[in-house]
Order: sequence, then C-alpha cells, then structure tokens
Amino acid sequence: MNHHRILVTGGTGYIGSHTAVELIEKGFEVISIDNLHNSEAWINDRIGMITGISPILEIFDLCDIEKLDSFFQKYKGIKAIIHFAAFKAVGESVEKPLEYYRNNIVSTLNLLEMMKKYGVKAMVFSSSCTVYGQPDTLPVTEVSPLKPATSPYGNTKKICEDIIHDATIAHNEIKAISLRYFNPIGAHPSALIGELPRGVPENLVPFITQTAIGLRDELKVFGNDYNTPDGSCIRDYLHVSDLSKAHVKAVERLIECKNKSDYEIFNLGTGKGVSVFEVINSFERVSGMKLKYRITGRRPGDIEKIWADTTLANKELGWKTVYSLDDAVKSAWEWGKNLRKIN
Ligand code: UD1
Repeated sequence: MNHHRILVTGGTGYIGSHTAVELIEKGFEVISIDNLHNSEAWINDRIGMITGISPILEIFDLCDIEKLDSFFQKYKGIKAIIHFAAFKAVGESVEKPLEYYRNNIVSTLNLLEMMKKYGVKAMVFSSSCTVYGQPDTLPVTEVSPLKPATSPYGNTKKICEDIIHDATIAHNEIKAISLRYFNPIGAHPSALIGELPRGVPENLVPFITQTAIGLRDELKVFGNDYNTPDGSCIRDYLHVSDLSKAHVKAVERLIECKNKSDYEIFNLGTGKGVSVFEVINSFERVSGMKLKYRITGRRPGDIEKIWADTTLANKELGWKTVYSLDDAVKSAWEWGKNLRKIN
C-alpha cells in the first residue's frame, strides 16, 4: 500500500469516478476537483460506498486560477495529477467552439502553471483517439499520423496534448503521459457509478440503455452503407474499469520514474474493432430484450472505422483489457436500470 496523494480533476465524472475507485483500492489518497458541470456530487459518496473512503471533493472551476492557487496552498504534497475535467460533447463543441476552447485549454494551462509553482512533477492527461481522424492503416499505433480534428472538442484534445508536450520540454521537472482512449463504455461492477449523460445521450451505449428502459423511442443507427462487413461503423469499445486501471499504471510509472521519456503517449483500447450492429446484438444477448432501432443516414463527422494497436500499452504499462464486450455492455445495462430508479 502507498499513500501518495493524487489530484483527480473531473473526479465525479464518468472516467474520473471509476479511476478514483481504482486509485483508492490501490492505496492512493485521492483529492478531486470538479465544477459539477457534467456530473453530480453524490457520485463522490458512491465512490465512498464502493471503497470505504470518499475522496476529498473541492467544487470549483479549474479556469479560476486564484481558486486553483488556493487549492494548491491548502493541499501540499500532491504527487501527480490525472486531468479528466473537460467539456466532451462533440456536437455541442461545434455550436459552442469558444466555450470549448476556453474551458478545455485554460484549465490545462492553469494546472501546468500550478505544477511549476508548487513542484508537482507528473500529469496523466485524458486524450482521445479522435486525434487520429480516419487512419489510413489499421490498427492505429501511437506513431500513426494525426489528422485535422473534425470538431472543436477533438481539436482541444490535440492542442492540450501539444501544450503538455511543450511544457515537458521546457520544464525538466514536469513529465506527462497522454492516454488516447478509444470508446469507453460500461460501468463499475457494483452498478453504483457509471456514465451519467445530461439530456439526450450522443454516445451509442447510453442511448441503447435509455431506449431499452423507455426513455427514448428508438435508437437511430447512423448508416449501414459504410465499407465494413455489416455496413455500420466500427469502433474499439473498452470497459471503463479496464480503462481506469490504465490510469493507475500510468501514475505509478511516472511516480516510480519508469517512464522512458518526459512525454509519453499510449493508446488504450481492446485492439478489436466492433460494429454498431455487434454492439446491438451484444445488448440483446445480455439483456434478453429486443432493442428498437432504425437505420438512418450517416452522422456528419463520423469516421468509418478505427481500432487500436495496444502493443505499447501492453508492454510498457503492463496493461491490457480483461473484460469482454458482453461484460461491458451488461455492466452498462445494470447501471442503466439503476438510473431508471433515480430518474
Ligand atoms: C466520439 C468522439 C470521441 C469521444 C467520444 C466520447 C469523434 C470522432 N469521436 O466517439 O473522440 O471521445 O465521442 O464522447 O469525435 N451511433 C449510432 N447511433 C447513436 C449514437 C452513435 O449509430 O445514437 C454510432 C456512431 O455512428 C458510431 C458509434 O455508434 O459509429 C459510436 O458513436 P459514439 O458513442 O458517439 O462515439 P464516437 O463517435 O466513436
């Protein structure tokens, strides 16, 4: 057991809350900052129910540098930051680009400034496979060329990666790891925490579970005329609990100085491409229900297919996914049914 103090930004959010659980179970002390823009404070209590320890939760906006400075004066000895807090809705980012750029970039800049000022040496950054666009060859490795972002959201991930990389070059004491997630789905096996979409979900799996509980009329399958075996888009869906464990590995790598350079990048996925219809089939299998869906036109900005080459994360982080697609979809369904009770 160790007692290193880790700051998790966005600690009541979807991936942040699951990562807080994994960190606490590994003996880390977790302190969260969250402005509750896209989450709920009771998620923090749920983390406590799962682990026996509720993280300290400070509720404010990372863009407020004075509050952030006071935070670092109050909490000394932070060993590493895992930076999740960000706006993340692709469609909304097209409508509100300035809010997305300001929020996602200023928060990252402020954290880096504080790392310099208060001597915090390590950051793990929540990035996305969106930086690859539609790759020319699959699976996609970390050295695959990056493509222009198809949304302001995607662009903020690319820009923040570049800012963090530059900071590690200029400031020797700072080291960082960007984790490029493929498609996180599912919920903690306890079904006490999970994805909490506000309003109509943009993502596939929450839309499926909300359709199944009757909150939505039907799922729209965005296109069946892609150049894929069944015509629907292909993604690499991974269980959020698997994904969260990779963050613990990344933090340990930095704290134990096992990193091979000051800035590293890892793809996090299963390495397996799965189509929209395969996700629907999985849902029907694990729930025993028929899902109401309809095939509609393609969604603008969607890429046809992407899945990860996870060799580097397997080898360097000693991490690989253990949950199957059915495990992940089933856990999303258990959580979705619990949410119906809350709604
Ligand atoms: C998008 C972003 C990704 C971001 C993720 C989480 C891009 C290219 N990808 O992933 O960076 O991290 O959201 O916010 O910007 N689908 C339907 N019907 C639906 C919803 C989705 O058919 O109602 C299909 C989509 O066409 C896609 C697949 O399901 O083929 C997955 O979609 P989604 O869950 O939204 O994730 P991405 O678009 O892959």
